[in-house]
Amino acid sequence: MSAPAAPDLLALDRVAQDLLFRAARTANTFTDEPVTDAQVTAIHDLIRYAPTAYNGQPLRVLLLRSAAARARLLPYVSSGNRAKTASAPLVAVLAADVDFHERLPELFPHRPQARDWLTDRAARAEQARFNATLQIGYLLVGVRAAGLAAGPMAGFDAAGVTGEFFPDGRHEALLLLNLGHPGPDAWRERLPRLSTPEVVRTL
Ligand SMILES: Cc1cc2nc3c(=O)[nH]c(=O)nc-3n(C[C@H](O)[C@H](O)[C@H](O)COP(=O)(O)O)c2cc1C
Repeated sequence: MSAPAAPDLLALDRVAQDLLFRAARTANTFTDEPVTDAQVTAIHDLIRYAPTAYNGQPLRVLLLRSAAARARLLPYVSSGNRAKTASAPLVAVLAADVDFHERLPELFPHRPQARDWLTDRAARAEQARFNATLQIGYLLVGVRAAGLAAGPMAGFDAAGVTGEFFPDGRHEALLLLNLGHPGPDAWRERLPRLSTPEVVRTL
């Protein structure tokens, strides 16, 4: 596992590799250029094929586009994140549907009894959070595939956002995501990444 990096071993062309990973950054500022509903649909149409346990797909996305919706969110956002959330053309609240199991007879039809394995709410919520978080990773890459920049933020009052936007009691807010085109001074110097030998071991 100490071989040098070899981008040519990857099936994806270099332009796509850079777009999705090497040149992609976490944006802290955004231009006014809007993110359209059609772009959001194109992103979701791509990333919905990525895998989840039981094919359960627990991620739910609430888009906050209007000024009124944004004003409801800002009090729950940490002070360091408030300015970028206020200026992003689109903010998504990424949440887990704790009752995702209700759809399993349709989404996992060869094992319809899977729904009944998930009757315990606490265990189900853990599954929902884990798989929705995986889907958030897919979503970040999908946003980049659309040529947009993403700004994920965990610095917010998740319980407060859940209460404000999901009063039904079946969803849990996990992460906020600013979306748009990067603005001036959108990022600082790239931070170091761990090397392959530090991360990967072979037995
Ligand atoms: C789950 C998650 C939560 C994050 N929360 C915040 C946050 O609350 N505020 C913030 O400024 N950046 C946040 N970030 C951004 C990270 O600090 C950033 O992605 C990382 O330093 C890599 O930056 P780069 O993509 O520009 O290389 C978060 C990123 C992720 C994936």
